Amino acid sequence: MKYSNLVACFIIIFSIFHSSQAQYSPEDYLIPHNEARRQVGVGPMTWNDTLVAFAQNYANQRIGDCGMIHSHGPYGECLAAAFPDLNASYAVKMWVDEKEWYDFKSNTCASGSGQVCGHYTQVIWRNSVRLGCARDRCNNGWYFITCNYDPPGNYIGQRPLGDVEAAAEQPSSDSPSKPQFMNIWIKFIHQLLRKIKPSLGYAQNSPQDYLNAHNEARREVGVGPLTWDNRLAAYAQNYANQRIGDCGMIHSHGPYGECLAFAFPDLDANYAVKLWIDEKQSYDFKSNTCAPGQVCGHYTQVIWRNSVRLGCARVQCNNGWYFITCNYDPPGNYIGQRPLGEVETEAEQPSYDFTSEPPTDV
Ligand SMILES: *[C@@H]1O[C@H](CO)[C@@H](O)[C@H](O)[C@H]1NC(C)=O
Ligand SMILES: *[C@@H]1O[C@H](CO)[C@@H](O)[C@H](O)[C@H]1NC(C)=O
Repeated sequence: MKYSNLVACFIIIFSIFHSSQAQYSPEDYLIPHNEARRQVGVGPMTWNDTLVAFAQNYANQRIGDCGMIHSHGPYGECLAAAFPDLNASYAVKMWVDEKEWYDFKSNTCASGSGQVCGHYTQVIWRNSVRLGCARDRCNNGWYFITCNYDPPGNYIGQRPLGDVEAAAEQPSSDSPSKPQFMNIWIKFIHQLLRKIKPSLGYAQNSPQDYLNAHNEARREVGVGPLTWDNRLAAYAQNYANQRIGDCGMIHSHGPYGECLAFAFPDLDANYAVKLWIDEKQSYDFKSNTCAPGQVCGHYTQVIWRNSVRLGCARVQCNNGWYFITCNYDPPGNYIGQRPLGEVETEAEQPSYDFTSEPPTDV
């Protein structure tokens, strides 16, 4: 009997944000920049094709990894990346939102984790008068936006609004470099945290927490509960430990069914299982099919009638993210079978071929 025990279980928290019509014309970058500048009495920037070409060339170089790595070119530069989409106005909004941390009087940024002001000060930097931005979709499905500024801003010992401010006898911010290149990555993730926190609730990761979440989903479709299995839990823990270095959504290729999830800055049992169960909305029991472009294999594994033992583990990876893996025995998602068992299989419907749906490698 052939089966696909390697359920495509790639879930990341960012998928909960859907964007409507993404917009990235020059105006979509310019308008929010110039509005932020207007608010502090600084003249507008103009769009510059030389900068656009530089930005596009660099964005193309980052397609392979979407890394928040600066180009180290001659211009000021702000970067942003997001999944599953990122539009111009939102990228600029994230940068401008740093205004709340920036103190004009003292030219300092609030101290604290994830508080960065250098994007905002670059956006409003009076002497930066030319702007060029570009956007790319990276191979991992994320979107990358880079904006370049000329002349560059964030010079040490200068203030964004120019000499008038600089003349005030205030300590200048000790910007680490000249010009200062920033990335938005951490800040963006902090913003996501604020958005998802309510659903995270109180982090609990006991066997009972994993079991309860699974068994409630099974009860809803009339399937008996899973029981905790220490052998599976040890397998899961061993594999999770192997992923500490990268938190990669890579399956163990072991003998069990397997679902993976990762998230930053936290991920608990309930939320991981919830992400999997939420696939229910894409799954059609009657036809045993999944909506186009969606993934259902986590959900069908969770409710798979013949899977009766469960073991899960959670680690914090070196990059700060959390990784959760759950293993199921016997494994589910056999080709030609249905999650609820033979009764369903008897219906003359095409069986859902899970192997035809490659893992969504995000
Ligand atoms: C840009 O993206 C944000 C966040 O995803 C969204 O709220 C906004 O509606 C989008 N704007 C446009 C013009 O698509
Ligand atoms: C665009 O920017 C480049 C680099 O700063 C500059 O040399 C060029 O004159 C600018 N082009 C226009 C039309 O302003």
